[in-house]
Amino acid sequence: MTIQPSRSSASTARGTALVTGATSGLGAEFAHQLASGGYNIVLVARDLARLEAVAADLRSRYGVTAEVLKADLTNVDERAIVEQRLHSADAPISYLVNNAGYGLAQEFESNSIDDEERMLEILATVPLRLSHAVLGGMLSRGSGTVLTVASIAAGAPLGLYSAAKTWPLSFSRWANAQYRHRGLTFTAVAPGFVRTEFHARLGIERADMAPKWMWLDASFVVRSALRSAARGRAVSVPSVRYKLIWALMKVTQPLIMVFVARASRAASANGS
Ligand SMILES: NC(=O)c1ccc[n+]([C@@H]2O[C@H](COP(=O)([O-])OP(=O)(O)OC[C@H]3O[C@@H](n4cnc5c(N)ncnc54)[C@H](OP(=O)(O)O)[C@@H]3O)[C@@H](O)[C@H]2O)c1
Repeated sequence: MTIQPSRSSASTARGTALVTGATSGLGAEFAHQLASGGYNIVLVARDLARLEAVAADLRSRYGVTAEVLKADLTNVDERAIVEQRLHSADAPISYLVNNAGYGLAQEFESNSIDDEERMLEILATVPLRLSHAVLGGMLSRGSGTVLTVASIAAGAPLGLYSAAKTWPLSFSRWANAQYRHRGLTFTAVAPGFVRTEFHARLGIERADMAPKWMWLDASFVVRSALRSAARGRAVSVPSVRYKLIWALMKVTQPLIMVFVARASRAASANGS
């Protein structure tokens, strides 16, 4: 099943996709590409005005239905509304995209433990809970797709963000093997640097983060992720350059740790 751009009406939709973090970056792009492939969409994020704007755009461009769920997914009560929507048997969700997420600007020891825990929650607990909420219905219908956004950062142990991003990879590898024969697929996508609002939210200039050649467009990443999910792959690493980097990270992990230890010692010696 390949997602092809096409116009479709809500009555002929191929199912309903729920996308978290749908107000910007990869999430908004997932919503557009899935809607253009004929899915009705449920959009989840915290900013109601932006959610409504994306929903209106999807309706007018692709003729699909677009529901809006305003929820901070780290808030238990607000997340429960999203879990409830995923449980619905009357309006079933056939495609879940666990995408919402962010990083933290400071080093581990400088962040409050509550901030670190909230980041772990949005990157691991939230996809865990939402995947579990949608699973029963998908199993009873014998079909469904769960796509979770990980990161190339999971390829090396570099702080809590990278540790948290290993969760979707390990989970998707297992769940894809476990449920594939029952008609479900689980895919983790591990992108490198993508031009989204992610870095601006951290207060980081893109140019300071990585050279130009390392930046990918959200549209390319999403197209590649949807293709991998349609092929039933457990892991998707968009672009040849990042496939090479991913392979290199695996074999050079001990060296990366030596580099981290040296850099940390040097920073301590300089008093920073
Ligand atoms: N950009 C990159 O280089 C890159 C690389 C690898 C992986 N990723 C991953 O890609 C995913 C999407 O990030 P992005 O790059 O597209 O960044 P982005 O443009 O900043 O989008 C993040 C989205 O998550 C939503 N969000 C954040 N916290 C939320 C919360 N507590 N509850 C509900 N929604 C929340 C935001 O919406 P509201 O503010 O409206 O809630 C926004 O829609 C993340 O999981 C990120 O870790 C990004």
